[in-house]
Amino acid sequence: MPRSHFQLAGLFLSVIGTLAFLGWRDTPRVAAVAMDINAPTFYRDVLPILAQHCQSCHRPGEIGPLPLITYEQARIGARSIAFISASRKMPPWFADPRVGHFANDPSLSGQEIGILAAWFKANAPAGNPHDAPPARIWTTGWNIPQLDAVIEMTKPVALPANGDIEYTYEIVPTNFTEAKWVQLSEIRPSSRANVHHAVVYVRPPGSKWLEHAPIGVPFTAADMTDESSRRDALWTDADILLVYAPGSSPDRWADGMAKLVPAGSDLVFQMHYMSHGEATADQSAIGLVFSKQPPKQRVLTLQLTNDHFVIPPGADDYRVEARGTLPNDATLLSFLPHMHLRGKRFEYNIVHADEAIEPLLRVNWDFYWQLSYQLAEPLPLKAGTELQAVAWYDNSKANVHNPDPNVAVRWGDQTSDEMMVGFFDVAVRADLDKWKYFVRPRDTSKVTR
Ligand code: HEC
Repeated sequence: MPRSHFQLAGLFLSVIGTLAFLGWRDTPRVAAVAMDINAPTFYRDVLPILAQHCQSCHRPGEIGPLPLITYEQARIGARSIAFISASRKMPPWFADPRVGHFANDPSLSGQEIGILAAWFKANAPAGNPHDAPPARIWTTGWNIPQLDAVIEMTKPVALPANGDIEYTYEIVPTNFTEAKWVQLSEIRPSSRANVHHAVVYVRPPGSKWLEHAPIGVPFTAADMTDESSRRDALWTDADILLVYAPGSSPDRWADGMAKLVPAGSDLVFQMHYMSHGEATADQSAIGLVFSKQPPKQRVLTLQLTNDHFVIPPGADDYRVEARGTLPNDATLLSFLPHMHLRGKRFEYNIVHADEAIEPLLRVNWDFYWQLSYQLAEPLPLKAGTELQAVAWYDNSKANVHNPDPNVAVRWGDQTSDEMMVGFFDVAVRADLDKWKYFVRPRDTSKVTR
């Protein structure tokens, strides 16, 4: 495309930026360029962008509200596509672009945003269907092809039309007769609109966690008759196999890295459901692909957590921090911050010996998009490295998601309570488990806690 075209697109972008700011809504005057033969066309220029950045969600059966597959669908949405892309609200991504590089960053480039804007401005021409890239093939269910195992919750969970739903657990035996190294995994809810997030834990044989809980049926902490089981249903340090949130991509570990599921383990589904105005049921499943050879490194999910905070009523920028020192060497792979409705920002840092802060990730929190951020370059860290997670909360009435700005807020599992969890994945030696990893070598003078 000639250069003048992009200058035009750039100019147009700054215009729609201003107009969007003023709340302007009418169709711009496009007559002057409607005949522009250099205008981008749907098949040649727009469809490749939609296929690469949008259709993962905007296709039938996925969470995106409008499908963006055909010319007709995109033409009707042309204005919204141009505006929402220019504002960078879509595709959803909340990391500050000035900090870190992430392999799963789906953001559009400035040039792609310019193409979508210029296409809308030129009255959304179709162009020649022969220019279209080969149609992207989407699987109807799993995004991972050729799963080695699918483990589904034994019984569906009935979900009410309205009201809070307590964390719901279901323990599902794997019946694995040998240890399995999991290289790829994906959680697939059956009722996607109701799953706020899900965590699948590994419970190896002999574990005392939830030992009195039933197998193969859904239960909540309130269903537990003894105090220790109730506590178990609110907190655990069991190994995490996978965390799911709307929009999260399947976990794919690099060659030589995998997560371990010991023989005879159960998987424990911890489901955080939201009611959605209609009574329904969910029966989520996890799909797994095993490594062909034993890996060199084992992937563990660790967490920086602070559960002792009290956010005062009305506080609009309340800071909560958690720190931890790596007991042994580890390669940092990815982050998954977790807060609830009052969350505002979340960051991960390395704290150097002189207290200098090296930022790793800064996230502008959006409760509805609990995304994971996978480092483009895994970061090797030495034993003794101090990691810090910092969360900010907005408990004022300016926060439109705030369920009640007049109460002090503490840790709890309902969305009207708060959480402060910085999950992160690390690769460690394959012969270590989480407990062995936390055994600190005596001779490492740098390790202080
Ligand atoms: C990870 C999933 C996902 C991806 C990728 C994604 N979207 Fe969306 N999109 C959504 C969801 C879900 C909504 C509904 C509003 C919300 O939850 O933010 C939405 C809303 C929209 C809307 C507003 C629709 C309305 O009726 O209000 C537009 C327009 C849109 N997306 C366009 C795009 C475009 C263009 C791309 C690619 C550049 C894209 N989206 C990528 C999930 C996604």
